[in-house]
Parts: sequence; C-alpha cells; structure tokens
Amino acid sequence: MSRTAIVTGASRGIGLAIAQSLAAGGVNVVLTARKQESAEAAAAQVKGTAVGYGAHVADEEAARGCVEFALERFGSLDILVNNAGTNPAHGPLIDIDQPRFAKTFEINLWAPIRWTALAVQHWMGEHGGAVVNVASVGGIAPGRDLGVYNATKAALIHVTKQLALELAPKVRVNSIAPAVVRTRLAEGLWRDHEEQLTTVYPLGRIGEPEDIGPAVAFLASDAASWITGQTLVLDGGALLRDV
Ligand SMILES: NC(=O)c1ccc[n+]([C@@H]2O[C@H](COP(=O)([O-])OP(=O)(O)OC[C@H]3O[C@@H](n4cnc5c(N)ncnc54)[C@H](OP(=O)(O)O)[C@@H]3O)[C@@H](O)[C@H]2O)c1
Repeated sequence: MSRTAIVTGASRGIGLAIAQSLAAGGVNVVLTARKQESAEAAAAQVKGTAVGYGAHVADEEAARGCVEFALERFGSLDILVNNAGTNPAHGPLIDIDQPRFAKTFEINLWAPIRWTALAVQHWMGEHGGAVVNVASVGGIAPGRDLGVYNATKAALIHVTKQLALELAPKVRVNSIAPAVVRTRLAEGLWRDHEEQLTTVYPLGRIGEPEDIGPAVAFLASDAASWITGQTLVLDGGALLRDV
C-alpha cells in the first residue's frame, strides 16, 4: 500500500517542493495552507493523488480535522512534515515584544509538537511513521537579524531529539536545517543582495526549494530507517566558516 504524508505550509516555497518530491516517490500527499483554495491550488501542481486542506497550523481543531481527513481519504498517515513557519519580527532578540514572541513560538514550535502528537495518537503510535521538522541553520548558529526566529528553530532542533527519544522505536523524528532558500519568507535576505550573499556559500549559490525536497523525502523513507533525532544541514557549505 502506498504511504501517506501531511506537509504543513505547502502552498508555495519549500513545503510545495517537499510535497512534489514525496509525490514523485509515490506518496499520497495532503498539502496544507491557511486557506482551502491556496492548498487546493498547490495540490493541483503536484502529480498523483495530492489533495489540499485548509488549516491554520496553530488551530488545534483544524489540525485534528486534517489528520482525520488524511486517514479517511488514504487509510494511513505515515509521514508528517512540519514545514509551516513564520518570522514576523526582524531584529535583535532584546527588541522583541511579547505578542510577536508568542506568535513566532506558536507557529514554529508549538504547532510541530501538536501536529506530531495528533499524528501519533491517530496512527503512528500504533502503526509507525516518520516525522521531519523544518528547522534552520539559524537554529545552529546565531545571526544578527533573526533573533527570536532563530531561538524557535534552535528549540525545534532540541524538540526533534526529545521526540525521537520519546517516540522510538515506532516513530522516527528528524529535522533539516536549510540556509537561505529562494522563497517569499526569506525574500528580505536574498532579493537585491544575492550577488553579495552568494560569496558566503562555498557551493556558489543560495538554495532553491528543489534542493530541499529530496532530502526530506530521504529522511521520511525506509532508506533512513536507522536515523532518528538528527538534523541534516542543507546550506551549500555556508556553515564551513573559513576562520
Ligand atoms: N526560505 C529560507 O531561506 C528558509 C531557511 C531555513 C528554514 N526555512 C523554513 O522553511 C519553512 C518554509 O518556509 P518557506 O521559506 O518555504 O516560506 P514561504 O515560501 O513563505 O512558505 C510558507 C508556507 O507556510 C504557510 N503558512 C504560513 N503561515 C501558516 C500558518 N499559520 N498555518 C498554515 N500554513 C502557514 C504558507 O501558506 P499560506 O500563506 O498560503 O497560508 C506557505 O505555504 C519554514 O518553516 C521556514 O522557517 C526557510
């Protein structure tokens, strides 16, 4: 029987590319976005059986509805990709106000924990599965303008290890840590300074969403069946700082 995945935040960018890579491997994919029509429009760009489901990632009832929908539609939920993320606050950590602090942690950390819990309760706890969290290199090394965002991603990398330990051996939990990828979320980082930015990448370019999808498909596959609690850095060599 073919496997089924939910990819959160898949209407564009990295999430859409992940959905396309999973579908290319024969996986049934449920793509989520805040609006039903955006989720459906994205699913129409994915080959195979892909479908869209509108769900704000921090809405517990919507998350439950999406998990139940995946199970009713396809009969299993083998893969969860916690991809939806936000960055409402640029600047130093000490400038953050409480509402934006809370929003960033709710979307980037609370939601992956809740969606994982629902997937485990409804399917993976009994039948097994694989979870992949989309973190960031900012969760590994600090950066000047993304203080609170980086803190959520560092926490997500730790949560990946914590959940991997709690959920083994039935469920594997891994994460990826990309550097700058050409998407709308990261536009402020690459648009108008791409030439300069490229110089910090030993591999000579920033990332494209298509660089990310296959790595997530690998971590979600049986080829990674002895890998859990790990974070795969996808950064064109950017963390290989020349000191
Ligand atoms: N791009 C980078 O350089 C980079 C680097 C490292 C890590 N990341 C991480 O990669 C992930 C994807 O980001 P991206 O760069 O692909 O951004 P993007 O192109 O802006 O896409 C973000 C996606 O998340 C969805 N989304 C946003 N808020 C949501 C919410 N509250 N509920 C449900 N869906 C929501 C958006 O859909 P709608 O707007 O249609 O709802 C969209 O599909 C994020 O976790 C981000 O932190 C990105």
